[in-house]
Amino acid sequence: MTGNSQTNQALLEKAHRVLPGGTFGNTAADVIIAEGKGSRVWDQNGKEYIDYLLGSGPMIVGHAHPEVTAAVRAQLERGTTFFANNPQGIELAAVIVDAVPCADKVRFASTGSEADAFAIRLARAYTGRSKILKFEGGYHGYSDYGLMSLAPKRPGNSSQPIPDSAGIPESIKEDILVAPFNDAMAVESLMKEHGDTIAAVFMEPLQRLIPPQPGFLEAIRELTLANNSLLVFDEVVTGFRMSYGGAQEYYGVIPDLCTLGKAIGGGFPLSAVAGRDDIMALFDKDRTQSDRFVPQVGTLSGNPVAAAAGLATLAILKRPGTYERYFETGKKLMAALSRCLAAAGLEAQVVGAPPMFDVVFAGGEVRNYRDTARADAASMSTLNELLKERGILKGENKYYLSVAIDEADIEQTIDAWSDAIATLAAS
Ligand SMILES: Cc1ncc(COP(=O)(O)O)c(C=O)c1O
Repeated sequence: MTGNSQTNQALLEKAHRVLPGGTFGNTAADVIIAEGKGSRVWDQNGKEYIDYLLGSGPMIVGHAHPEVTAAVRAQLERGTTFFANNPQGIELAAVIVDAVPCADKVRFASTGSEADAFAIRLARAYTGRSKILKFEGGYHGYSDYGLMSLAPKRPGNSSQPIPDSAGIPESIKEDILVAPFNDAMAVESLMKEHGDTIAAVFMEPLQRLIPPQPGFLEAIRELTLANNSLLVFDEVVTGFRMSYGGAQEYYGVIPDLCTLGKAIGGGFPLSAVAGRDDIMALFDKDRTQSDRFVPQVGTLSGNPVAAAAGLATLAILKRPGTYERYFETGKKLMAALSRCLAAAGLEAQVVGAPPMFDVVFAGGEVRNYRDTARADAASMSTLNELLKERGILKGENKYYLSVAIDEADIEQTIDAWSDAIATLAAS
């Protein structure tokens, strides 16, 4: 791979001229990724990285996978969008219905945020109720409702929703309830208080990196049933990642609705709401009274190029042994990272599941957002920088694994960890 530092500098300057903060809003401005292949990416300077950023999750089979590229290329020749049903989108919906336990029907959108916003509206329309109960620290996209109590700086009483952005109207607070993750008793008491105003419990079944404790998802399932509220799993991250059928299959708890994104678009903009037939019927005006109908449209919804990429990606994931190998790789990496932290004597632990995990620089049990919020953020960002220098690219708080990671990648990653962590410990 060849790079060009002149071009890199010129691009950096241009980015700062034309983009707020010099970025697209996702990651730092100083890394400009020019190319990706398999488990690796190259920046504009030609520096090579093992990629654990993974486009924030979609590139689960690795970059420029030949089968995904061929499927996309074939569709490009036939036109790129029609605002009409197309074979690839219909096939992808059928694959999702076969794979995801709660999915009787599927509707597409383009981003996870959009799918989440549609699912919130659908849950309200179905139940005739307005409040959404979410968990502190859970991310459900950038809508006004989704962006409440994601990462409150001064959280106070946890059941008070706090907006995570300027520009969110005060009135939104009226319709959001917040509970600590892994605390079914808090959910029970909110249900006692707000009962028949709660349309849905909307949650990441594995929240960011925090796994559900045994029995937690089951308890939320029972509570939602008893309260006639819907249970919605945001599986934008966990869908086709925790297992082929997502976290609902992995943990054996089936929600009423789920949202999907990232993996199902194979690196293109595509997301979905999926769920029970009688709920999804509200998207169908022929099956619904006009006052309950939920219009669901989007210029690029079910885009055939994205659907072709998604279909190819899911076909690769479905091959026998894929998830076994994927989890083996993740377990090996998590164990090695824990060993490096212990050898350096740092107060830190590895939190997550084999497909996505990271270091939390804090001792004690990590059960919810507040347990991660007390972690040492400075150590985290120093370690991320040290790793970037050593050719490991990752998000601020997450390693996303692709199935393309091989033994050489694992070895190189562990070397980078032990060197970077020793350097951090000595600083
Ligand atoms: C759990 C979860 N839900 C929703 C979203 C929003 O998806 P998008 O960035 O495609 O809008 C994300 C994005 O990271 C996510 O992690």
